[in-house]
Amino acid sequence: MLRKLKEYVIPATVEEAWQEYSVGKALLISGGLAVGLREDSSTEKIVDLRGCSLHSVDAEDEYLAVGATVTLNQLLETEISKRVAGGLLREVLWCTGSYQIRNMATLAGSVGQWYGWSDIIPALLALGAKLRIYNGEYSVIDLPTFRSMRLKPIITHVLLPLDPSLVGTFVKIQRTSFDIATVNAAFVAKFEDGKIYDARIAVGARPGPAQLVDLSHFNGKMLAEVVDSLVGTAVKSITFGSNDAASAWYRQRLVSAHLKRSLSSLVNGGESSKIPELKYTEAPFKAKPARYEGYVEFELNGKPVKYPLKPYQSLLDLLRENGHSEVKKGCDTANCGSCTVLVDGRAIYSCKFFAFAVNGRSVTTVKGVGDWLNPSSVQKILHEANAVQCGFCAPGLVMAATDVLSRYRIEKQEDLQSLLKGNLCRCTGYIQQDIALMETASEL
Ligand SMILES: Cc1cc2nc3c(=O)[nH]c(=O)nc-3n(C[C@H](O)[C@H](O)[C@H](O)COP(=O)(O)OP(=O)(O)OC[C@H]3O[C@@H](n4cnc5c(N)ncnc54)[C@H](O)[C@@H]3O)c2cc1C
Ligand code: FES
Ligand code: FES
Repeated sequence: MLRKLKEYVIPATVEEAWQEYSVGKALLISGGLAVGLREDSSTEKIVDLRGCSLHSVDAEDEYLAVGATVTLNQLLETEISKRVAGGLLREVLWCTGSYQIRNMATLAGSVGQWYGWSDIIPALLALGAKLRIYNGEYSVIDLPTFRSMRLKPIITHVLLPLDPSLVGTFVKIQRTSFDIATVNAAFVAKFEDGKIYDARIAVGARPGPAQLVDLSHFNGKMLAEVVDSLVGTAVKSITFGSNDAASAWYRQRLVSAHLKRSLSSLVNGGESSKIPELKYTEAPFKAKPARYEGYVEFELNGKPVKYPLKPYQSLLDLLRENGHSEVKKGCDTANCGSCTVLVDGRAIYSCKFFAFAVNGRSVTTVKGVGDWLNPSSVQKILHEANAVQCGFCAPGLVMAATDVLSRYRIEKQEDLQSLLKGNLCRCTGYIQQDIALMETASEL
């Protein structure tokens, strides 16, 4: 929690945001999830970029320009994301965090944060992604240059190459399906008539920041013939370390085995997408430009409300303080899903969503989707299938399932499980929940 926070501003333009950010002890936010997790006693101001019209995904000449505030799910839901390195981008996004995490996190924020275990960073490094930045003037830089800058500029767009000859693959090894990577790796190369050019492998969660290996000395070789030597060269160039999750030796073995398997699959035409089809997408998150003045106004379950708040307060705490105890506090660290609510129709973890960011927007809690007399189809089926025991996880599960089932065409149980892995239940063992929700999925 940022207890010293005094100001929260949502500017309308990037230039205004720079003015606000470049003076005083300010932090930028794009999605705000990583900043929401901080215990920082120096930040006095938040400059939230969600009012700055950086929420579009546009194909430019050679690049896909992803606005700083586009969430990972919004990017995943675009048709054009399929064109980045033969689907590599989608593979990475799909395995990042949970559904709610992807509704909050952004590429720009992932770069700004530069977690050592990030899945996004190795993918961007291997892709040779660039950043459009503003620090008084606009320019384009690469990721290592951004990392070396002391006063960080505003990333306005992350630029991803749209070269159709690029192929790529991503491997993530994790202990559970909603865990950070024990180790991960991205491979990208130009692929022409079976031959590779400008190949790059980046490995993250070594542990430590991702490391990139340039393999352009393999230019012109048949990929099928060099899988072993390509991966062997890469893993020898990477420094692996040990921690509680794995030893250096084991990490090296994991990367080597998984990358070889994945590259061999690429040679043989790769696998078809594991991501379920979408029924619809909708307008991206847009915050209303505003400045914190001690209160927040928004629509809650269809009714306008105005509450006093502290600038660092989470949406969860604000809702509970104002009588909405149907929103549960479980972990308070964006891990359990019990606090899930919808903001502008998208499921997010309210425990790590800054409350002021909902100013002018719409919030729905479980009370807003139905009640005992008029339950929604999701509530009804969970009740009829005895899929609830103590009930603590139920409000969050109902909210996540409501969003997920209305958005995705779910035919396989494993897709449902993947989309709802960010909602933990300590009682039911999930089986009745999964069966009941699969039934609803086929009806909706
Ligand atoms: C429970 C949990 C699980 C997760 N699992 C994964 C996972 O599996 N894989 C993975 O890769 N990540 C994972 N994450 C990390 C998550 O993806 C990051 O928190 C997120 O990517 C950060 O993006 P954001 O938009 O929320 O950043 P923000 O909180 O907005 O910002 C993060 C940092 O970047 C700076 N910043 C933000 N925007 C800009 C900008 N436009 N220009 C310059 N600097 C900026 C901020 O000042 C701050 O320092 C997980 C996080 C949680 C909490
Ligand atoms: S995810 Fe928010 S309380 Fe657990
Ligand atoms: S029913 Fe008890 S936590 Fe899920």
